[in-house]
Amino acid sequence: MKTILILFFIINVVLQAKYLDSETCKECHEKIYHEHSTSMHHKSSLFSDEVHRKVKEFSSKDKYSCALCHMPATKNLGAMIRGQEQPNAHEKRQTDGVSCSYCHQITKIHYSKPYNINFLNSSSNDKPTMFGNLKNSESSDKHNVQSNEIYKNSEVCMGCHSHKENSHGFEVCNTKDQYNSKSDCIGCHMPKSTGGNEKFNKKNRSEYATHSFLGIHSDKMIKKAVKLSLEYKDNTIELTIENKMGHSIITHPMRLKFVKTVVLRDGNIIWSNFAENPIEDKEATFIVVFEDAKSNQSMPHTATGYKINQNLKAMNTKIVKYSVPKLQKGDEIKSTWISYIINPNIAKKLDISTKDIIKPYIGTEKSIVVE
Ligand code: HEC
Ligand code: HEC
Ligand code: HEC
Ligand code: HEC
Ligand code: HEC
Repeated sequence: MKTILILFFIINVVLQAKYLDSETCKECHEKIYHEHSTSMHHKSSLFSDEVHRKVKEFSSKDKYSCALCHMPATKNLGAMIRGQEQPNAHEKRQTDGVSCSYCHQITKIHYSKPYNINFLNSSSNDKPTMFGNLKNSESSDKHNVQSNEIYKNSEVCMGCHSHKENSHGFEVCNTKDQYNSKSDCIGCHMPKSTGGNEKFNKKNRSEYATHSFLGIHSDKMIKKAVKLSLEYKDNTIELTIENKMGHSIITHPMRLKFVKTVVLRDGNIIWSNFAENPIEDKEATFIVVFEDAKSNQSMPHTATGYKINQNLKAMNTKIVKYSVPKLQKGDEIKSTWISYIINPNIAKKLDISTKDIIKPYIGTEKSIVVE
């Protein structure tokens, strides 16, 4: 009930403030606009993200509770969540996804059990205030500016990225157990680039925070996920996996991430840690599989527990040992990190065929030669 009251409060606040859609920022913040347009934040609504749309259709035909984080700038959030109104492809507030002005009007995060809530600026002014982290920033014709600590300590991310319970009160994703005041989401996901943040660069700034928010959809970022090390001694391969990210390896239940390890002799594979399915080697696989009340494998919306929960926390290390037949001098042991945006089993179930979504993303590789 409390959450519902808060929701109404927020909806009212959104209604009062004038909405500037993301395209209006392009006039001055050209580079940031282009970065943002390619980001999953811009593509977060069911109009632009096929995976999201299909999972949504699977969980509910008419209710769009997901709008809270995937289409947060919409005016009719409450009605959409309750299923009284349907998404509209002609509404900028909806197709904008996690929009510039939505993100930049968050003033405070309200922590609550089912999911956190973003508190927005409540000014009913025609000229909205954009919050950020710049020193000596000045207001423009389009908006005022104000600095706010949460754009520095990454707390602004936690309104949507913290955790989420399904209707059975089961937490289907969680980053919050890993988050603390030292978590630098912004440092890793908004790396600096040279130049000013707006066209005229009136303040002659030398760098700005980029807005592509790269993650699981980026080959470059996948390469930074983990560090792999290998050792071979007494017919045993020892693989060390170190999670280099500021969160668990699995933050979202759709993903599949694993290490493939092979031994090559004269270019031929003579041993591998699994034959067909990475889960054969559970210890080198990172995956979350849910079960429903009857212990059957389930999608997130009907989950009440875990069937498999193979994860590794931020900055933690894990060692996997393999007994192998005696290796010869010159044999190469090679480990490769592989990531799937969507577990191929789920992709099949949801009939997802977009190439970039179902392909394996190849991460870091490590190899040693037996001496
Ligand atoms: C509390 C905020 C919140 C709510 C509510 C929410 N999501 Fe999400 N969703 C996120 C965040 C944050 C991510 C990115 C997580 C990640 O990549 O680890 C995400 C990612 C996803 C993805 C992965 C998309 C991709 O590109 O592969 C799917 C699918 C998804 N959500 C489905 C849903 C559905 C369906 C609902 C409603 C039933 C929903 N979400 C409700 C916050 C939320
Ligand atoms: C008419 C030009 C113009 C437009 C249009 C514009 N801005 Fe700005 N914005 C500026 C200027 C100038 C600054 C100050 C830059 C500086 O200090 O380096 C600024 C600063 C900002 C800041 C930094 C605030 C801080 O204190 O850290 C944010 C955030 C921002 N704008 C968001 C937006 C968003 C979102 C939009 C679109 C809804 C937008 N702006 C549209 C000119 C504009
Ligand atoms: C208003 C809600 C909201 C806020 C605030 C938010 N995000 Fe997101 N974010 C999402 C959603 C929803 C997705 C998933 C979109 C999808 O895949 O459909 C996402 C996806 C991402 C991704 C994954 C990109 C990929 O490749 O899949 C990263 C990284 C990310 N966000 C980082 C951040 C960081 C860092 C912050 C804080 C500066 C932040 N987000 C603030 C809602 C939000
Ligand atoms: C030390 C660097 C680092 C920090 C700190 C960090 N991340 Fe990441 N994050 C990464 C890398 C690298 C990836 C891409 C690899 C992957 O997804 O497996 C990633 C992936 C993600 C994804 C997509 C994951 C998926 O599987 O869908 C989201 C969402 C995300 N980060 C959000 C956050 C948030 C929110 C914070 C702050 C609590 C944060 N990150 C802190 C490095 C970092
Ligand atoms: C997911 C939330 C989110 C979205 C969406 C987002 N921003 Fe930001 N933006 C931030 C955060 C956090 C910072 C502070 C980064 C820092 O200081 O390192 C920031 C910084 C900025 C700055 C100051 C950059 C600098 O370092 O000089 C400007 C200007 C800005 N944003 C404009 C925009 C515009 C325009 C859009 C859309 C095209 C946009 N933002 C979309 C979260 C967001």
